[in-house]
Amino acid sequence: MYDWLNALPKAELHLHLEGSLEPELLFALAERNKIALPWNDVEALRSAYAFNNLQEFLDLYYAGANVLRTEQDFYDLTWAYLLKCKAQNVIHSEPFFDPQTHTDRGIPFEVVLRGIKQALVDGEKQLGISHGLILSFLRHLSEEEAFKTLAQATPFRDAFIAVGLDSSEMGHPPRKFQRVFDKARSEGYLTVAHAGEEGPPEYIWEALDLLKIERIDHGVRAIEDERLMQRIIDEQIPLTVCPLSNTKLCVFDDMRQHNILTMLERGVKVTVNSDDPAYFGGYVTENFAALHESLGMTQEQAKRLAQNSLDARLA
Ligand code: HPA
Ligand code: ZN
Repeated sequence: MYDWLNALPKAELHLHLEGSLEPELLFALAERNKIALPWNDVEALRSAYAFNNLQEFLDLYYAGANVLRTEQDFYDLTWAYLLKCKAQNVIHSEPFFDPQTHTDRGIPFEVVLRGIKQALVDGEKQLGISHGLILSFLRHLSEEEAFKTLAQATPFRDAFIAVGLDSSEMGHPPRKFQRVFDKARSEGYLTVAHAGEEGPPEYIWEALDLLKIERIDHGVRAIEDERLMQRIIDEQIPLTVCPLSNTKLCVFDDMRQHNILTMLERGVKVTVNSDDPAYFGGYVTENFAALHESLGMTQEQAKRLAQNSLDARLA
């Protein structure tokens, strides 16, 4: 039905690998690892996917990630995502992963990284999908814990293109991580950060000025600040927008209220991404399709959005 959207070559620049854990794989991994789940079956889990805000989603997302234990689990998770990319003509991906979600449960950093990285390398060879991996810090945790995570990554520096910042935005402004990001940049990492999803435009300013980010993840609340809009247009700072995520987490009440096409027409370098596709109802093509169905996105606009994603690659 959406062959014309699948056919567009696309890059995905905002995807949490842990958020691509489909309920079927979650149950399979629970069985493999002998973990008891609080849901009776896949349908019961899926019916729990109703959220009023970011935090309600995050609580379930971290609970789901508990089934990921072995290097093979992380490989299987990543490989399943790459197969989706292949099916939708996503030719390049820059996924995030949250090492602290796993190291805090006693899973060694290198177990997580090895599984993910091997799948990404195999994806390049066997599926022709290029990648740049982004290590994301959990902003609800402390600066000190982020520094520890950065130190754990040092022996594997070449595995990453950038560091990022995700999890609960409100009350955890980018400035909390200024020194960690300074250190990361001094080690050659590029930087990105979630900002302006639920948080105010001020958080986007901080991410730009203090964390010196290359791209803004989400950033939809930039539209509330005209001076900020001018800056992101003038400097062509990419926004990795996730339409289905934004409606599922009630950032917008309805897809018809989403501002991505308004931003596109104002000259903002917006891109379309899936964020946590297993939880929000679809991968990149489904996100494009929602824009077509609810906002009347044209083929020409879809082409520009896809081209923006290719232009905004870091790797
Ligand atoms: N926002 C913040 N943190 C996240 C998200 C998100 O959309 N998805 C996974 N972690
Ligand atoms: Zn995200």
